[in-house]
Amino acid sequence: MKLKVRVWIILAAFLGILAAFAYKVARDKKAAAYAAATPYQRGWMLIEDKGCVACHQPASGFRAPVLNNLYGKTIKLADGTEIVADEDYIKQSIIAPMTRVVAGYQPVMPNYQGQFTDEEMEALIAAMKPEEKPAE
Ligand code: HEC
Repeated sequence: MKLKVRVWIILAAFLGILAAFAYKVARDKKAAAYAAATPYQRGWMLIEDKGCVACHQPASGFRAPVLNNLYGKTIKLADGTEIVADEDYIKQSIIAPMTRVVAGYQPVMPNYQGQFTDEEMEALIAAMKPEEKPAE
């Protein structure tokens, strides 16, 4: 093998190892941040990671309700009824979004049945309550 080719192969392997290492560091850092976070913060990490923000953000092209402080609000539904957004409503809105559609919106939200653990679901609900500041 020509020396030049060998140098390139070694360089490519080195870059590959470096990339894998950087990826692992980033992933560990994320896991550590998640572990250290409050349920509210975990909820927002999930909302970002799972792509909910693609729709649920004022800046997104899709029109979907804002999730901040949703908990406890009275929601007008497409069928004309009203419902208070309690834990059960929020859970249902995530795992079976077609059951109750918010008035004024298209029923386009994907179904997230089976995609969140109970702990993650609690975090999602916590994200939709006012943020609890840690005691000073
Ligand atoms: C493709 C766009 C889209 C994505 C992605 C999406 N949603 Fe939605 N979502 C909507 C729309 C539109 C509505 C309003 C219509 C309805 O009730 O289905 C909605 C409604 C909701 C509601 C009820 C809101 C209210 O005001 O009562 C909750 C809670 C919710 N989504 C949470 C989530 C979470 C959590 C995720 C990510 C795991 C997510 N959504 C991903 C489009 C989306």
